[in-house]
Amino acid sequence: MKIAIETDSVSVLYRQTQHSRANLPVQTSALSDVSLSVALGEVVALLGPNGAGKSTLLQTISGALKPNSGEIKLFGEPLSRLSRRDIARQIAVVSQAHSVTFGFSVRDVVMMGRSPHQGGWMVATDRDRQAVDDAMRRCDLLALADRLTNELSGGEQKRVTIARALAQEPHLLLLDEPTAFLDVRHAVELHELVLSEVRRGEMACVIAMHDLNMAAQHATRIALMKKGRIVASGSPENVMTAERLRDVFEVEMAVGEVGKTRVFVPTAK
Ligand SMILES: Nc1ncnc2c1ncn2[C@@H]1O[C@H](COP(=O)(O)OP(=O)(O)O)[C@@H](O)[C@H]1O
Ligand SMILES: [Mg+2]
Repeated sequence: MKIAIETDSVSVLYRQTQHSRANLPVQTSALSDVSLSVALGEVVALLGPNGAGKSTLLQTISGALKPNSGEIKLFGEPLSRLSRRDIARQIAVVSQAHSVTFGFSVRDVVMMGRSPHQGGWMVATDRDRQAVDDAMRRCDLLALADRLTNELSGGEQKRVTIARALAQEPHLLLLDEPTAFLDVRHAVELHELVLSEVRRGEMACVIAMHDLNMAAQHATRIALMKKGRIVASGSPENVMTAERLRDVFEVEMAVGEVGKTRVFVPTAK
């Protein structure tokens, strides 16, 4: 299996402002000693409570945040030596934050995903238009193609940013809670889409999410995070035990089965 991304003992510190202490910045650790490698063909779900470090890890893998120590390799090359454009040809990111661009149609925004592959003049080729149509079709956006993105619902806007990422034809797709605004059908369809792309063997995906049931069904591997560390990594069956989930999320959890599907239900103490 070809390794897409590899982090070796990565640590990230943030400077935080403490208003109660005369605005003196303090350093806090957001990631400690994180080693994770993801091969083509894998969907790795990052699970963990708020503040566990999932978004920080995704931003670090994408090159947006520089680690304070440790190394990251993208297809064997140190990330720190690659240009933004080199990285954008391989990695597409759908971040948690809502980013709406005013005055652009859905098709325009999805076309922006092609820019790492285009020359200096950004002239769209037939190949670019094909990739854009394909991405819009897979995200159920063809009917919205000519609408302005700032006039769409939150979930529709999210699908546009996902389509832009797919149009980029990345080998590594980083998704930060992509289904938070999606209705259940579009959430399931997104996960199935990601899984089918990844199964073709040309892509890997790391996805931060909160839905344990969907993670167990759609991820090939789970990385469970707590306080900036990966506390367990492996198949959903091995990692997602009631006891581990209780430790990490600090809530009682029942794990059962409906047919062949494992289900996770938080229960009152
Ligand atoms: N820009 C920032 N500046 C300072 N601290 C931050 C910043 N972003 C996140 N943090 C802190 O880093 C930790 C990890 O946050 P994050 O990666 O966003 O967690 P998650 O995505 O798992 O909820 C948290 O304790 C959070 O408060
Ligand atoms: Mg987050």
